[in-house]
Order: sequence, then structure tokens, then C-alpha cells
Amino acid sequence: MFMKIGNIDFNNNLILAPMAGVSDVGFREVCSLFGADATYSEMLSARAMLHNPHKTQLMTISSPYEKIKIGQVFGHEPEIITQAITGTLLKDYQIIDINMGCPAPKIVKNGEGSALMKNLPLASKIISECVKVAKVPVSVKFRLGFNSDISKEFGRMCEESGASFVTLHARTAQQGYSGKADLDAIASLKQTLKIPVVGNGDVTDKESYQKMLETGVDGVMIGRGAQGRPWIFAQLLDREISYNKFEVIKRHVDVLRKYYDESWLTLYMRKHFLWYSNGIEGASKLRLELATSPSIDHSLKLLKELFEKKVLN
Ligand SMILES: Cc1cc2nc3c(=O)[nH]c(=O)nc-3n(C[C@H](O)[C@H](O)[C@H](O)COP(=O)(O)O)c2cc1C
Repeated sequence: MFMKIGNIDFNNNLILAPMAGVSDVGFREVCSLFGADATYSEMLSARAMLHNPHKTQLMTISSPYEKIKIGQVFGHEPEIITQAITGTLLKDYQIIDINMGCPAPKIVKNGEGSALMKNLPLASKIISECVKVAKVPVSVKFRLGFNSDISKEFGRMCEESGASFVTLHARTAQQGYSGKADLDAIASLKQTLKIPVVGNGDVTDKESYQKMLETGVDGVMIGRGAQGRPWIFAQLLDREISYNKFEVIKRHVDVLRKYYDESWLTLYMRKHFLWYSNGIEGASKLRLELATSPSIDHSLKLLKELFEKKVLN
């Protein structure tokens, strides 16, 4: 049995993480095709959603191939966040998630993201007011704490404030991405709460997926492990899907071409192309060329040659 949130039934336990500057609509589409059952938008500024909706609108475009769409919002003002989540930008999303884990200094200095883990009364007010006005379930994604582990206390607060489920990236904000995700903390949060818990941190293959499942979590979120490897979802689900890696990359690009201009895409896709070509023996020269490629078509040509010549990881 997989998670049921409100009247939304999950069909497996795999969730694509929100990743600002990475989880664009094309990437979400290809991850969904490989089996990700829920996909998060990049984090959206509640203020920007109200005051600069055109910019944020592009980030809220979703794909018809996404299954359960979760829109993630960050902010620190309850009245701004509630207005943002009840506006039209997230009308196609089935779940609203509030970011209480982002450690980026420009977010923390505004009292947002992981800074809310230092202000439980405000975090609680944000959650309960969102729950009051939202037409869909509200979830919260957080870290262990700002600089020490308060995840059980914080999780209880989320539950009491009305969150439908929580996701724990089991590192403190201060840790950034150093050290290892603390799976014991995830297991103990799962024991503490009645609402479902999604575990997150360092799942990159079957072994790490299995270890995460052993914590008892209801869902498993994958971030960096999917970069350049959207097929990871099929691998973890033991789905035998035959696919051509170049065609997957092309599909990622083709979705984005509907919405973004070529010059922006050329720069934006460089990191994805480097991830897609990561770990391929003998590809270092080509990777250098990809890093400075003047156009998307040139990059695709290089990748096509690369993938046609090799049997890859
Ligand atoms: C490039 C990048 C961007 C991220 N952006 C967000 C974000 O917008 N919202 C969020 O809650 N977490 C964000 N995260 C954190 C991930 O969602 C996830 O919690 C973290 O990467 C740990 O999971 P992993 O080990 O599977 O990557 C980001 C992570 C990366 C690497």
C-alpha cells in the first residue's frame, strides 16, 4: 500500500525532489515517464507569485505526463503565502508544499526556508493558515534543524498545524550537503508521527533506496540521484523499460523548446547535458565541448554521436 494523501492515491513510493534550477518541466516529464509518481516544482517565491507572476508562471508549467503534481512555495509572511497558494498559478497542482528546509543564505536572511526551523510559532502559523485556505492538501519539507536535530519536535508541530505529510532531508541546514543523511533520524520521525513521512537524502541506487525503505518511510524522494539519470526511477521500481538515452535527452529538450528561447536554453541545458554525459569513459573532450557549446542543436549532435558510439552505464 502506498501513500494516500486526502483523496490522492500514490501508485508507488518514488518522488522527484524539488530542485531549483534543475527540475524544469522537461526533466519532470522524463522522470515521470520512468515512474516518478510525484514531482515537485522548483521552489516558488510567494512574493514573486503575487508581484511578478509572469516570471514565476513559466516555472509552474506542468506536463500532462506528470502524475501527482506538487507545487512548492517559500516565504515567511503567512498572508503573502496564503494569497500566493490560492491564486491561479498553482491551480493545476494537487498538493502544495511549503519549503522550510532551504539553507541558501539569500533565503535564510529573509527568515524563510530553513530559518523557519528557528521560529516554530511562525512556521506553525504559516502551515495552519495555508491549511485553512488551500483547496488541496498541504505538506512541509524540512531538514533536521538549523544547526542541531529538532526534527521530531518540528515534525510534531507540522502535524499539529495540519500538514498532510512531511518530507525530511536528514541533514541540518548548517551541514549543507556535507556528511551523510541521518537515516536513524528519519526512522525516529516516522515512529513519532501519525501523518506519512517521506525520507530524503543520498538515494542514488538500489542499495541506498533499500536502506531508506528500512526506516519505514511512506515515500522516498530523490534529488541529485536523478540528475542526468531520470531512468533511475525505472531501475528502482524494477521496471523493464527499453529506452534510448539520446531520445530521452531530446525529449527533455523538446518539452522546454515549447516555452523557452534558444539562447536561454543553450546556457540552461549545459549542466543537464554534462550530467547526462557524466561517467562515460572517453567523453572528457566532448564534455568540454558541451560546456561551451554555442547552441542546443550543436549539443544534441555531440550527444547523439556520443550515445550512438557507446554502450553506456
Ligand atoms: C540544485 C538543487 C536545487 C535544490 N532546490 C530545492 C528546492 O527548490 N526546494 C527544496 O525543498 N529543496 C531543494 N533542494 C534539495 C533537494 O530537494 C533534496 O532535499 C536534497 O538534494 C537531498 O536529496 P538528494 O540527496 O536525493 O539530492 C535542492 C537541491 C539541489 C541539489
